[in-house]
Amino acid sequence: MSRVLWAEKYAPRRVSEVVENRKAAERVVEFILNWHPEQRPKALLLWGPAGVGKTASVYAAANELGYDLIEVNASDKRSLEDIQRTVGAASSLSSIVKGGRRVILVDEVDGISGSEDRGGIGGLVEILKKTVYPVILVANDAWDPKLAPIRNYCELVRYNRIRSNVIANHLAKICERERVEADPLALKKIAENARGDLRAAINDLQAVAEGKKAITVEDLNVLSLRDQERGAFDTLKAIFYGKSAQGMVIAVSSSDVDYELLMQWMCENAWQHMSHPKELANAYDALSRADMFLGRIKRRQHWGLLSYAFTLMSAGVSLSRETSKGGAPKYQFPSWVKSMSAAKARRKTLEDIAGKIGEKCHISSREALLSYLPYVKVIIEANPEEGARLAKWLGIDPEVVEELVSKEVAERVRKAMVS
Ligand SMILES: Nc1ncnc2c1ncn2[C@@H]1O[C@H](COP(=O)(O)OP(=O)(O)O)[C@@H](O)[C@H]1O
Ligand SMILES: [Mg+2]
Repeated sequence: MSRVLWAEKYAPRRVSEVVENRKAAERVVEFILNWHPEQRPKALLLWGPAGVGKTASVYAAANELGYDLIEVNASDKRSLEDIQRTVGAASSLSSIVKGGRRVILVDEVDGISGSEDRGGIGGLVEILKKTVYPVILVANDAWDPKLAPIRNYCELVRYNRIRSNVIANHLAKICERERVEADPLALKKIAENARGDLRAAINDLQAVAEGKKAITVEDLNVLSLRDQERGAFDTLKAIFYGKSAQGMVIAVSSSDVDYELLMQWMCENAWQHMSHPKELANAYDALSRADMFLGRIKRRQHWGLLSYAFTLMSAGVSLSRETSKGGAPKYQFPSWVKSMSAAKARRKTLEDIAGKIGEKCHISSREALLSYLPYVKVIIEANPEEGARLAKWLGIDPEVVEELVSKEVAERVRKAMVS
């Protein structure tokens, strides 16, 4: 099922709809309208934190002015080369004469690597030298040393974080259009939690409110996963970019994310920091040994072993890297935890099941969710009749089983349960 992101659905269509950074967006319009191939500087560089309307204001401006927007993926060398061929005077004066009104957008320029010859920053400079169209670049940090060669060609336009009351207002408007009645306090909390990132706030709102008639502060619980995610990002960074083994261990022991979930994060993301099979093999070896320690610790309550586990899962993994470079990974939420939380209703049901497993097995529901539920699922799938007995024992309804397994299997479980 595809779903429309509210951040897209309610993206500004006109510059007047850009909140907080409207002046900056108006500068974009002016720049496009007054642009001339002889002018200096030749390009705009929009910069600022994520989710504040940089990309959106370029789209709004082009839409409002009736220009074609050509977006270049700066990390894709091929894409840059294509543009280099088409922006220059020789090939395109004719299209100007034809009245082709175009704007070129190069988004996330700080994501590109500096070195390649025709691509990368050098490729961008070539474009900026010869373009006969207005070019707008977007970056998070305009002062990244890597961007020095292109800064000379650019007028810098700064975008700021969105104040939380402005975010809350914006969310209220979206709720109105979605016909969701929202408790202002809930919106205020979402807004504050977003730390100036309007896109994050809209995504949070959608996660909480989609399909509902009303939302209250209680509904915000589903967002705790997202906060976990932030905490995990920070810990992973501290582990992989740490300078000392000790620092890496401290990052784990002081993390808000519980260490079992952190293990999952490490398993899911280690590859992003290591491209060589041997490095990865060592990393997973360290993780598997950490896992053994954790198992022993839990079974025998040998908490003294915890520091071994922490060392293996942090320094043990991070220092497996020999030659691979740091890079700028996009960490991924542990995949199966994520797929289990894709829909919040479903998640709630899963938590209920986990609670029941927890009661029966004398473990926490979190542990049940992470370590037992996957096996319950496997058992039911492998043998629905046995699954029915298990479901009865746990006190799970047949409807709930449907959240775990396919309809066909759930149907067999239901039959077995009533017979
Ligand atoms: N200043 C803003 N005014 C209106 N909507 C915004 C603003 N900033 C962000 N948004 C919303 O968040 C989404 C993402 O914003 P975007 O411009 O892509 O952020 P970035 O600054 O990271 O490029 C937009 O599609 C829009 O819905
Ligand atoms: Mg953007």
